[in-house]
Amino acid sequence: MPEKPILVVTRRLPAAVEARIKLHYEARFNTSDRLYTRDELLAESKRADALLITPQDRMDASLLSRLPESVQMVATLSVGFDHIDVKAAEARGIAVTNTPGVLTDATADIAMLLLLGASRRATEGQALVRGDTWNDPRPTDLLGWQLTGKILGVYGMGRIGQAVAERARAFGMKIHYCKLHRLTPEVEKDAVFHADASELLAVSSFLTLHAPATAETDRFLNAKTIELLPKGAIVVNAARGSLVDDEALIAALRSGHIAAAGLDVYEGEPHIHPGYRTLPNTFLLPHLGSATIETRTKMGMIALDNLDAHFAGRPLLTPVL
Ligand code: DGY
Repeated sequence: MPEKPILVVTRRLPAAVEARIKLHYEARFNTSDRLYTRDELLAESKRADALLITPQDRMDASLLSRLPESVQMVATLSVGFDHIDVKAAEARGIAVTNTPGVLTDATADIAMLLLLGASRRATEGQALVRGDTWNDPRPTDLLGWQLTGKILGVYGMGRIGQAVAERARAFGMKIHYCKLHRLTPEVEKDAVFHADASELLAVSSFLTLHAPATAETDRFLNAKTIELLPKGAIVVNAARGSLVDDEALIAALRSGHIAAAGLDVYEGEPHIHPGYRTLPNTFLLPHLGSATIETRTKMGMIALDNLDAHFAGRPLLTPVL
């Protein structure tokens, strides 16, 4: 029987995924479940055939150039792959795969939670109840903003953006979107297309970000673009922190130009801009987009389907390039 490929698994994974790994790979699990330093990761990778990583493992060109020659493939447990320099990986002949599709629903659910949490002032409500200071309820307490009848601007109408639109329609919202190419009428449904992001911003009393992190989307939401939003807009980000200029968003949340923000992702996460924590009008989650047992298990299985395909000489299912 041929030897099993050596697979470095940088973090603990759901039990069913780890069980499957043990069957087909000589697994190097990270039993401490602590983020490896670059040197630790390189040491773990000695003579390894592949790595199964997460978005916290930054695979930049310098790290990729130091990976042992034996490493043929990097499978990331994420749809986003901005933490991997894919060009550098390609140049080294290392295949890279991600896990698209299976986290669409879980992430769209979190975007709705952010929309509701921000618009219904959940942070302030939680503080009242948890702080045992909810002792004289008044009809004017914590009045939020209704989703029904409002325009939801979707920046980035891919799989996840479309799934958020579907949910938001059920809440009575009107969908507007901006995307490089207009969707087909069957997919677009009643959504209004804007080729120009400024036009989308101008009508979005609610804005949800679903574009990938690229040079083009970097700090999409900044002082200038925030100015285009209607006063009192509510902003949600379940995509990537790099889409937002934190200083500009915090200033707008302080001035009231933006009434509230719901955030699941942050530049430099898990170390977030401290300004967000001090504001009552932020509803903050720790990157829970895909964090359900069903979804994380499916993500692990897709990563393994790709690894299995590679080592069996079959085409990869979800290569990133
Ligand atoms: C992804 O898959 O890119 C998610 O953000 C990870 O939870």
